Amino acid sequence: MTLLPADHPLTGATASSSLVRAYSGERPPTTPVWFMRQAGRSLPEYRALRTGTRMLEACLDPDLVTEITLQPVRRHGVDAAIFFSDIVVPLRLIGVDVDIVPGKGPVLAHPVRTAADVAALRALTPDGVPAGLFEPVTTAVGQLAGELGTTPLIGFAGAPFTLAAYLVEGGPSKDQLAARTLMHGQPEVWADLMSWLADLTGAFLLAQIGAGASAAQLFDSWAGGLSLADYTALVAPHSAAALAPVRELRVPGAAANGGRVPTVHFGVGTGHLLGAMHDVGVDVVGVDYRTPLDQAAAVVPGVPLQGNVDPALLAAPWPVLEAHVHDVLARGTAAPAHVLNLGHGVPPETDPGVLTRIVETVHAAAGR
Ligand code: CP3
Repeated sequence: MTLLPADHPLTGATASSSLVRAYSGERPPTTPVWFMRQAGRSLPEYRALRTGTRMLEACLDPDLVTEITLQPVRRHGVDAAIFFSDIVVPLRLIGVDVDIVPGKGPVLAHPVRTAADVAALRALTPDGVPAGLFEPVTTAVGQLAGELGTTPLIGFAGAPFTLAAYLVEGGPSKDQLAARTLMHGQPEVWADLMSWLADLTGAFLLAQIGAGASAAQLFDSWAGGLSLADYTALVAPHSAAALAPVRELRVPGAAANGGRVPTVHFGVGTGHLLGAMHDVGVDVVGVDYRTPLDQAAAVVPGVPLQGNVDPALLAAPWPVLEAHVHDVLARGTAAPAHVLNLGHGVPPETDPGVLTRIVETVHAAAGR
């Protein structure tokens, strides 16, 4: 157990926010709402700021990150900020040759496929993950915690499997075939790669919480492509290891959530994995749009849920979307607490006015 410093936002500023209360299993007067990829291309003010700056350069510029993270909070009145970064930022900082190609996603110069490839990664951290590696990130988080006041900042990281999928494939892939081949074909190489990634991810999450983030979300976006057996045996232990440093923290004087920093676990198409994803040791499970929240609540009873408005409906006529939002809220009452979100990220072409309208609708639905 490690105590957070007494001036951490979770000891005061954000402790009674609707997001932290819901993540702790309470039902606040209004259902909190934020959107995956709320900072990004749906906002004209984001596109204006990003002109001429590559994605990963932007992620390492603390002033730019601070401004981009605040943009959707100001515009939409969402109940949380999510740190503007990317899951490959820790890889880039440790020296992996990775870039984010617009319209495509993360692309690696050298795919990781062999024992020698993993040994080369290990050689980047001969004495473990260096202290201070995440300096641009911790600077931005510290600035944001000050600016946000009572609005919590969510820190995040990619889970070892989703990072491994990019590393092994060399870029985005439909079915993570090469990664799934490696996990069975060379199980020792797989385990070595996953444990290296778990250490890096754990350090990245811990750095964000230590600098002032009030919750941590682990994105295992591509875990839905795995069978339950593979997920449980070859992936879940490494996700648990990645979360361990944050799970060991305690908020001084806090009774809610056992004094733990709230943690959330999300993946796409993971209806068959929800129980296993909870079992890695998180407080909240994020649900994609394929699994209705009442069905998810039956699988992980007693667990706060986050989700799961279908991003496709953001472009549908408002009455259709409004009815869907009310349906999601109604199904969310099957869980002890609910944080409204999308079932995956905001599509870049989304009219931002629609997102603001969802926030207003969710907040107005309180007490009905
Ligand atoms: O507002 C937020 O939600 C915070 C920002 C955020 C980004 N990436 C910014 C981003 C978060 C939480 C992520 C996580 C992330 N990145 C995940 C997990 C969540 C998920 O969507 O499943 C994954 C799989 C990635 C990898 C990645 N990075 C992809 C697939 C892409 C999209 C490529 C494209 O151009 O369509 C990126 C780039 C990226 N990350 C953008 C943003 C805003 C777009 C880059 C741009 O604006 O030019």
